[in-house]
Amino acid sequence: MKSLISVRDIGKKEVEKILKKASSFKEGKEERLEGDIVLLFLEPSTRTRISFEKACRTLGLETYTVLGESSSLAKGESFFDTLKTFEALGFRGVIFRVPFILFPYEDTANALKLSLINAGDSTHQHPTQGLTDLFTLREAYGSLKGLKVLYVGDITHSRVFRSGAALFGLFGAEVSVSGPKTMIPRDIHVFGVKEVFDNVDEGIEWADVVIWLRLQKERQKENLIPSERSYFEQFGLTKERHKKLKGFFMHPGPVNRDIDIDSSLLYSEKSLIQEQVRNGLFIRMAVISWCFTDK
Ligand code: CP
Repeated sequence: MKSLISVRDIGKKEVEKILKKASSFKEGKEERLEGDIVLLFLEPSTRTRISFEKACRTLGLETYTVLGESSSLAKGESFFDTLKTFEALGFRGVIFRVPFILFPYEDTANALKLSLINAGDSTHQHPTQGLTDLFTLREAYGSLKGLKVLYVGDITHSRVFRSGAALFGLFGAEVSVSGPKTMIPRDIHVFGVKEVFDNVDEGIEWADVVIWLRLQKERQKENLIPSERSYFEQFGLTKERHKKLKGFFMHPGPVNRDIDIDSSLLYSEKSLIQEQVRNGLFIRMAVISWCFTDK
């Protein structure tokens, strides 16, 4: 029984095992597991929750969903006591999305006899999105060695960036960022970032692939940009920038249309957005299988 809370806890060998499992699921391999899983989602989600649910069911696992304000967390019960309750009820695993950073977490994970799978904890980690993006890039480019990846947008609030950058670095990619100064963390270089481009057009010229991120308005405590219009003009994927892209672009979703990306470009021939969603299912099946069966 394993858990996956942060990509920083797994080395290249374990990541390779997960990617290999995901490939085999994509090719149609079947696997049957037994047990019950809780999907505890305290923040909104469409693709992560539904793909985890579909992944569980495809693997033969029963799912029980707990959403937002519907649990006793709303009455002040702690996250740990909530997990202990699921443990006492005989659940095999808990897949959680929470509005707080789960760190440190070793004591929590070690004190429980169930697998914990992080589906996004505030701005900290989103391991299955990072793995999905790694898998998608590998399919598109073959290898990440020397691949120049640019993240654009609200880097400060992005758990997708924190998970993806660590994984891409492990596989030899160069990662740079671009965004308003107010959305670049002061400690950006601890994430192995090569360069911070104030001018996104210079970043696009440098990059082989660009990952636009969502402006996370719900997490911004103050106005970090003069207006959404000016943000789009300065950093968004416009038609002019789309023409200049050397390769593909990605976005983890959900997209703020005409703020992150021009509406008409979302599903263009350079977009990997639908492939990211498709691959998310196989990666989540692989992570669940890895947690439950890998020694
Ligand atoms: N990428 C992602 O986490 O999307 P959802 O919020 O829809 O799950």
